[in-house]
Amino acid sequence: MRISVIGCGYLGAVHAACMAKLGHEVVGIDVDEHKVAQLSAGHAPFYEPVLDDLLSELEESGLLRFTTDMSAARGAEVHFICVGTPQKRGENGADLRYVDAAVAALAAHLSAGDVVAGKSTVPVGTAARLAEVLADTEPGATLVWNPEFLREGHAVTDTLNPDRFVYGIPDGSEDHPAVAVLDRVYEAPLAGGTPRLVTDYATAELVKTAANSFLATKISFINAMAEVCEATGADVTRLADAIGLDDRIGRKFLNAGIGFGGGCLPKDIRAFMARAGELGADQALTFLREVDAINMRRRTRVVELTRELCGGTLLGQRIAVLGAAFKPESDDVRDSPALSAAAQLQLQGAVVTVTDPQALANAARRFPELPMEQDLETTLQRADAVLLLTEWQEYRELDPHLTKALVTSPRILDGRNVLDPAKWRAAGWVYKGLGRP
Ligand code: UDX
Repeated sequence: MRISVIGCGYLGAVHAACMAKLGHEVVGIDVDEHKVAQLSAGHAPFYEPVLDDLLSELEESGLLRFTTDMSAARGAEVHFICVGTPQKRGENGADLRYVDAAVAALAAHLSAGDVVAGKSTVPVGTAARLAEVLADTEPGATLVWNPEFLREGHAVTDTLNPDRFVYGIPDGSEDHPAVAVLDRVYEAPLAGGTPRLVTDYATAELVKTAANSFLATKISFINAMAEVCEATGADVTRLADAIGLDDRIGRKFLNAGIGFGGGCLPKDIRAFMARAGELGADQALTFLREVDAINMRRRTRVVELTRELCGGTLLGQRIAVLGAAFKPESDDVRDSPALSAAAQLQLQGAVVTVTDPQALANAARRFPELPMEQDLETTLQRADAVLLLTEWQEYRELDPHLTKALVTSPRILDGRNVLDPAKWRAAGWVYKGLGRP
């Protein structure tokens, strides 16, 4: 099939490459010339395992190209809208200007029978509004809402083998011709058994926001338990292991630590609350305010615990911060808990150095005043305290004895609860975890 993908950021670049991998003829369209040039040369403009390999593998196939020219969408049967929906400046709501601009620009190039599939995460009600915009220009085209659930760091696998497909269709009917069109797009994964649910627009939009709200709630729940554990001397990691064995609860997303960040969970729960307010349903989501507050408290807790580790003052203390990305296997620093804690520590007089295997360039753009160091050993040298804030494999595997030889004072705060406290203490370290005795 011929497919166009509008927006070649994180979501769009991965989606375009994966659709070509499925054998479709794909054109990715973006207004950013630099991004298009990089992608055309077979390089992802961000770090995502496997994606670079997939892009170079596809270069030979002729199935994937990138351009800034919107008219290249002409002739495609399906057009995926993959542009960003960031948080509005100074407000909680989602900024829809890129979605609106993409749909307006695409509309002029559509033909009757085309399917426009929205993938971006949008406030409920957006699809119905965009369908009206499309109907004014090309009434023969159909808008569907087809949310994406990929995780950064696992984007290619998640796109090719998702847990489910959700099709939001104008009348919610399985018989709508657009259903068969999407079934052809996703023929291979569907044949492999991926479940597919057909819903109305509003339900499809809500599936995405509800899923992210649930995940955020699960993390904040366990972080709230970490606060209680800290007050009682209990161990939140064992608590999570034990409650996680109940398969109604499940162990996934029960890792207590410095909390969630990134380009999705924080902004999605805020946009959801803002939208519920507009709909007069704000009471239903007041718990999400608490989810957000618990999450933000974890960052402050890291600063408090570091001060305790350093004997009551941060002034002049050399702090080695391991991790800048919001999670491992990513160079994304949007709303990164690690960087937020590092910046707070610096404000309070600590001499902070941040290291990360992939995210330092992005981190330096966001926090130009924070000293960064690519080399892990150099970062650790002469530190008064070490903070593990993003659980990259190389930090999980640090040897307590070798690390001790580098630092001035062997004190470590394990912000992700991934180290073995007994091992570190036996090597002479003062070890603190979050929610652990
Ligand atoms: C998330 C959703 O998982 C994905 O389905 C959606 O499409 C986009 O948003 P992503 O933002 O890539 O994906 O990261 P995710 O793996 O969900 O992690 C989000 C944050 O939660 C990270 O900062 C991570 O460190 C944190 N987290 C995750 C925890 O603190 N504890 C956990 O147990 C799990």
